Order: sequence, then C-alpha cells, then structure tokens
Amino acid sequence: MKRPKKLVRQINRVAGTMGHLDTNALGRFAGWAVSRSGKDLQIEAWIDGQLAATTTTGGDRPDVERKLPGYPRARFSGFTLQLPESALSQDRVVDVKIMARGDGTLAPKAWLGTASLAGDALLEKLASAPKSGIVGPFPPDVIDIVAVFAPDVVGDLGSLSGQKRFVHALRKILLVSELRELAPIAAYVRYLSAISAHFAFVDRFFPSVNRQAREGSADFHGKPNSVGEIISIAHQLYVLKAHGIAGDFAEFGCFKGFSSSMLSFACKQLDLKMHIFDSFEGLPEAEHSGYTEGDYAGSLEEVTENIRRMGSLEQVTFHKGFYADTFREYRPPHLMCLWMDVDLEVSAKDLVVVADRLDPKASLFSHECTADMFVDGQIVNAPRPDNPIPPVLDRFEELGRPLTGNHLHGHTGAFWPRSGGIPVMHHDALQDLLRVLRKDVLK
Ligand SMILES: C[S@@+](CC[C@H](N)C(=O)[O-])C[C@H]1O[C@@H](n2cnc3c(N)ncnc32)[C@H](O)[C@@H]1O
Repeated sequence: MKRPKKLVRQINRVAGTMGHLDTNALGRFAGWAVSRSGKDLQIEAWIDGQLAATTTTGGDRPDVERKLPGYPRARFSGFTLQLPESALSQDRVVDVKIMARGDGTLAPKAWLGTASLAGDALLEKLASAPKSGIVGPFPPDVIDIVAVFAPDVVGDLGSLSGQKRFVHALRKILLVSELRELAPIAAYVRYLSAISAHFAFVDRFFPSVNRQAREGSADFHGKPNSVGEIISIAHQLYVLKAHGIAGDFAEFGCFKGFSSSMLSFACKQLDLKMHIFDSFEGLPEAEHSGYTEGDYAGSLEEVTENIRRMGSLEQVTFHKGFYADTFREYRPPHLMCLWMDVDLEVSAKDLVVVADRLDPKASLFSHECTADMFVDGQIVNAPRPDNPIPPVLDRFEELGRPLTGNHLHGHTGAFWPRSGGIPVMHHDALQDLLRVLRKDVLK
C-alpha cells in the first residue's frame, strides 16, 4: 500500500533524514546522507522511474560530523555512487534522481537532488556538430550545436516565435553541465554574462544628470536610452563577429557617453575597434525639428572621462566635428556595424555618406524608431526634420542593398540588408535568453 505523502514527510522529519549531492561527473555522484536512526542509508539513483544504481553511506565525512553532532553516523555519512555504463552511453539527456533511504518498509527517505546528464553518444554528436550553414541571429557554431540537439527549432530563426523556440532548446543544453561546457556555448555565455553585468553597472553608476541642460530642454537626463536597447546592439556585434564579418564598429551621437561606455566594453570583449563621431557641441541647427541647436552637448573631455571610468577607452577613436565637415573628405575604415542616435534628418543625411564603407552583411541600429514603422519586414516611414531613418533607407536603395528590419525596444530599431543580411534578434527573445542565464544557469 502506498503511504500518504504527509505521513512520509512526518516520518522523515522524526527520523531526520537529510543529505546533500555535492558533485557529479562521469556518471559518478558524491555526497552525504544521515538519519537519526544512526544506521547507514541506502543511496539510490533513479532514471525514468527505474532504479539504476545503489550504494550505501559509510564514507568518512568529518565535515558533516562537525555540522551535525547530534547524528550518530554523521562521521561516516559519505557516499559515491556510480551509474552503469548503459546509462551513460545514451543519445539523449538523462535525468538522474538521487535518493537516500533507510532499512525496511517504513524507512525514512529523502531526495538528495536531480542531475541532468548528457549521454556520451549525445555529447560526441554535439561536440562534432557539422557546419549547418544556417544563418540567424545567433553565433553560427551555437546554431550548429542546436541544429543537432533539436533539428526542428532551427528552421525559422527569423520570427520571434522561432527565436524563442531556439532559446528554449538552448536552455535545455545550458542545464546540462557537459553540454554547456562545449566551447562555443561557454564562449557565448561568457560574453553575455560579461556584458549583462557591465551594462547593469553602467546603468547604475553613469552620471544621470546633465548639469549643463537648458531649462525645459529634453536633454536634462544623462542616459537617454536604455540597457534593453543597447544590449541588442552588443549581442549583434558578437553574432556578426562569429559569422566572420570583418570591420570596425561606428557610433554616431554619443552625448555624454552612456551608450558608448557600454558598447566600448562590448568591443573590448570582442577585440573590435570603435569609432565615435560627434560634434561634442550637441545638435546642429535644424528648423522645425523641435530641437534647439546645442541640445545633447557633451564635451570631448567629459565623454573621454566617462568612457574611461565606465567603458573601455582603449577601443575608441574619437572623430570630433559636425558630420557635414567630418565627411567632406574623410571616410571611415570598413565597418561591420553602425549605431546612430542623432535625432535629426539633416544629421542622417550628412553621415550616410559612410554607407558604402559598410560590409554588405553589416547591421545598422538607430534611435528614433517606433514599432509601427516595421510592417512585415517593410519599413514604413515619412520624411520629417526629426526623422533620421528615411535618408538611410534611401541611400541603401541607391546602393542596391535595400534594408529590412525590426523594432527592438524603446526607440531603437535594427536594420540589415534584405538580401544576405544577418537578422538581429528580437528584443523579447534576447530577454528570454538573458533571463535563462540569470535564473537557471548563473544563479
Ligand atoms: C541623443 S544624443 C546621443 C545619445 C547617446 N547615444 C547616449 O547614449 O547618451 C545625440 C548626439 O548626436 C550628436 N549629433 C547629432 N547630429 C550631429 C551632427 N550633425 N554632427 C555631429 N554630431 C551630431 C549630438 O552632438 C549628440 O551628442
């Protein structure tokens, strides 16, 4: 007869059965378990509802004895349990539940933990994943691994739902230690965790007040965009680099250096050069734009100091001047990605002469985008003095490289060549991935 769960819990409490699963590797589980009875406990490994292996406690654990002096056998509560070869040779992820149990039918028991193990056959398949040639907003070597692990989730990496399915499959990989240790997965997580932590730091510590702001002006705040927007750009830098796209990164419009601090740090992780183009005197005059000449001014000294404290100054080359002057003769080096936050149509017209310096697969990001601009991959947009997007779209049409894109978050949108470009991950899918790292993997 099955004993009710409440009774089992009571028996365990009275008997004080408890323990811990300390480590597992190569199908070997080590830990400790005790009960007040003072008898050795049986340790069991269960897979798919079947008993797969057993052992008993008895190993020397002076540390447990120190912590639990009231338990008579605490000194000899250690165990090592080895799974059989057949459990390890499987072609799938195996969930192993480890239990401690006393003698007899009324004996107390306690679940010590569950571990997800990759069968050796699965590990080998993923470690030698062939190049799939699938292009998407994830690093290609990560796509290749997921394509072997869950072939049905790599067919549609363009839509939000397709990207969310991919992240869900990636989560399953990330929950298994041997799988997340695969070099492409570990490198990707290392980058994402480094930029997430750093961006959170910048968000908290970057000067939030613009003391030079005119009364009533829009630039009173030192952080006019958000981590949620900038992290999409940083993610795409990794993806572009992983796809082998060559070139530097260019930022147009830095104000006090908030986005520059985050993105220069991302460039440092990826060994990318970053170019910052700004007047360092604020916006130029632009009639009917709603802005005033000089809005969003940050001096070169102020921005330099902010990036020195909050970012990675060594990655950065500054190009001081209004774009109409800077690009009269100068052209930047080959670029893999461009981010502009310049507020004005006239500024976009002046800077878009750099379009032919962008790699044919480069990504572009811009502020001043709204969700309703993006309709089924088409960009619906009307010229206005405060709209920098149309001049960019027009220039890429002229170059024979029309752009598509999506809205990301806040006022930021992403653009990439309709033909042959590498899509940018939807904001919600990237947030899913970052949440998985925070809550399930790096907790
Ligand atoms: C809204 S702010 C940029 C905000 C910045 N991304 C941040 O994170 O704080 C706009 C910037 O664009 C620059 N800018 C706009 N038009 C320009 C032009 N034609 N030439 C040079 N700089 C320009 C301004 O000087 C200002 O620093």
